[in-house]
Amino acid sequence: MSEKLSFLTPDTSQIRHQIKGVLESYSHEWDILAELSQNAVDAIVRATPTRGHIELTVNAQAGTIEIQDNGVGIAPADLLRLLRPFASDKGGHTNQIGQKGVGLTFVLFSTVSFELETHEASGSATAAVHGASSWANSDDNTDLLVEVGAIATETAGTRIKIKLADHDLPLFDLTFAELTFALRTRTALGSTNFIWGEPLNCDVKFSHIDRSGNANAVEFDCNYLLPTEKLKSDDYISVDDYLEWRSESDRSDAEKRRKLKDRIVYFKGKKYQAGRDIKYWSCFVPNRAVWQTLSELHGLSVEHVEDDMADGDDMFVGFKFSGGLSTSSKGMPTGIFLELKPRGSAGYFPNFFIIVEDPSLSFDIGRKSIQGRQQGMLREIAYEEFRRYVRDFVKYISGSIDDPDPSYDREELFAEIASIAELDSSSSKFAKRPNSQEATVAAMFFEQLGAGQFSSFVPLISGYRGRYDLYGKIGAKSQVVEFKFDLSGLFRDFSDERKMFDEINTVVLWEITEKDRSIVSKRGLTLTEIGGGLLTTTNSKFPGAHFRLNLDGVKSIEIVSMRKILKPGE
Ligand SMILES: Nc1ncnc2c1ncn2[C@@H]1O[C@H](COP(=O)(O)OP(=O)(O)OP(=O)(O)O)[C@@H](O)[C@H]1O
Ligand SMILES: [Mg+2]
Repeated sequence: MSEKLSFLTPDTSQIRHQIKGVLESYSHEWDILAELSQNAVDAIVRATPTRGHIELTVNAQAGTIEIQDNGVGIAPADLLRLLRPFASDKGGHTNQIGQKGVGLTFVLFSTVSFELETHEASGSATAAVHGASSWANSDDNTDLLVEVGAIATETAGTRIKIKLADHDLPLFDLTFAELTFALRTRTALGSTNFIWGEPLNCDVKFSHIDRSGNANAVEFDCNYLLPTEKLKSDDYISVDDYLEWRSESDRSDAEKRRKLKDRIVYFKGKKYQAGRDIKYWSCFVPNRAVWQTLSELHGLSVEHVEDDMADGDDMFVGFKFSGGLSTSSKGMPTGIFLELKPRGSAGYFPNFFIIVEDPSLSFDIGRKSIQGRQQGMLREIAYEEFRRYVRDFVKYISGSIDDPDPSYDREELFAEIASIAELDSSSSKFAKRPNSQEATVAAMFFEQLGAGQFSSFVPLISGYRGRYDLYGKIGAKSQVVEFKFDLSGLFRDFSDERKMFDEINTVVLWEITEKDRSIVSKRGLTLTEIGGGLLTTTNSKFPGAHFRLNLDGVKSIEIVSMRKILKPGE
């Protein structure tokens, strides 16, 4: 004979055991606020009101917390069940952050009094529990009772008011600024979704009364507090904007330093990995003191420094901005920092911050740590980002603008110069030929001018108003002279030929190259040699000019080739 019996209904002592387990798994000052906030945000996301509103009051003097949302509410028929440990109705809802059904249990069993009011489509209800905390910690066999009632409220949403059992809770020692910071960087009220353009449509009014009765209040949108939030746009720059600026022209290292120096460089990235989109926001600060400056900017006292404790994988970084790898899931910052183990360039680790959003993070009860395999993936993303900052940015962000370019190596440069072709000219002191740049061409011109060449040309002034290279005269006639290595360089400067022929009289260059000749014919110009060369000046206006570049047979520019004058190697 046998019979089938249900055997999985727990008795009071077993439930109490479960509840104690839940209570013991939480360890952060902000945990109660995080669980209440997470539930409020979930309820709002589900209800999609025109605008979500959350009102949160922490009264450290009275030892109470009150939170009100305009979310979906709780159906009176479900209320008692949902107050039990491990009860959740969020399974299968991918837009809901809650998953385990323990957050409310943790809150409830931390209180001497718990009052809830809720309105849902099917009706309204109230529930009150007194002495939940001491019940959990006692071992008598009495049942814990909940007082339920009905109220006439049409205000959608839920209001929870609790008085905490432990009035010495560290939560009540936090300053208004620290709490605001914690709410926006460690709870669902600081939604990271806005970083990726999908802000949570919700705002918060947070009021605080500290232990001495000082009252403060602030209203904010439910957005994560990025380190750059209060800064002037000059103080930071995105990697994307920098790369665009860099691609606009050939930027020298000095320009790059000027662009990045003393600025926070940040990057918004996305990676498809392990079947999901992993998003991240990272930044690199010029020096560690920046974290302190930022913290002070947000009213966070940096003296009130917690011991930076690294308890296994759980790092406590305190209520201040800092470097590190932080995590978020479904828009909720977890407050969990993963330790980065130095592996090369470790000295820069404190300059680096990253928050990685992974929609599928799984936590332990108490949300203190992330499953091991997932940690590895998050760390890899952080390391890769970090290495890029070290490789591409460090040398420009920190250090002085006037510092010599670290990549500039004198010896190397002179070795390079040694390999440039010898000039070997009896009429010039220069030892090397100009290497595709006009400065040497100009210098050689002036050297020859001083030695008596171009005798009827009188130089007046160089580079006046930065427009043309040299202004001078031949007799009463004014002359505009440009220096170039070759003609191609001149064409690069003048896309409009007519303008070039109108404004320039003479171009002094090193030589006419084959490439120049083909550009000339492509453009429908003609290039003719002026007979006689060096000694005959009859055909040219500019003494000793070698070529004439013609446009439509009327306008022309004369060309002096320094190579023809200096005759290298002859
Ligand atoms: N502010 C609220 N508005 C509507 N329903 C709520 C609210 N707070 C709690 N609930 C209901 O109570 C249930 C239990 O909440 P609890 O925080 O314990 O679990 P959870 O959010 O589902 O999961 P987690 O343990 O991961 O937070 C929720 O699933 C939800 O149905
Ligand atoms: Mg919850």
